[in-house]
Amino acid sequence: MLSDKTGCWTPVALSADLPAGTVMPARTPAGPIALWRSQSGRAAASADRCPHRGMRLSHGFVRGEALSCIYHGWSYARAGNCLRIPAHPGLAPPETIRVETHEVEECGGVIWVAVGETTAQPPRLEGVVPLRSLTAHASVAAIEAAAGATAGADGLAWRAQDAEHIQLLLVPQGDEETLIHVLLGDNSGPSQRIAASRAVESLRRIAEDLQTKGTAP
Ligand code: FES
Repeated sequence: MLSDKTGCWTPVALSADLPAGTVMPARTPAGPIALWRSQSGRAAASADRCPHRGMRLSHGFVRGEALSCIYHGWSYARAGNCLRIPAHPGLAPPETIRVETHEVEECGGVIWVAVGETTAQPPRLEGVVPLRSLTAHASVAAIEAAAGATAGADGLAWRAQDAEHIQLLLVPQGDEETLIHVLLGDNSGPSQRIAASRAVESLRRIAEDLQTKGTAP
């Protein structure tokens, strides 16, 4: 995560994992969000709670440029305003019906979501491309201990045995769970991608072991 005085950017997902016309749950330091991509391809982030009766919007569906709630079908624009209430088709929803939204930036195949007022932009990750994301049942500290390195604003730089340089973006999902985005050099071939993927799975096992034994920092 990249923080400044009043806000931070969180790498919530890889672009490839959010196709057009879909919604998925994600997490920021401010809580759960519904991360969605409109039919025209624009990514958006809303609080994961419908203003009507509180249903999770990440259980909803995308139609065109709007996110709709699965419960009673209220639909919301990227800016958070309510566009339509199916039970009252002739009613223009009042401006007061809104879902909280977050600023979204996509760069280098990573989707970043802002929490709070950010003055900076998300980090530009030069020379790397996303490989995959995986979840570890271990804290960020346990993963850092397993890797023998500490994460900075650009993530954790790690060189595994028999694998090339790997960059890991670590996103806490609670006290003992971490989302890991794996990035590799942009000239990596298939065998390097496979080796890196296995190396990170092995790192995850070690970190989870440290967590389970209570030996994580
Ligand atoms: S709870 Fe979302 S439309 Fe009713």
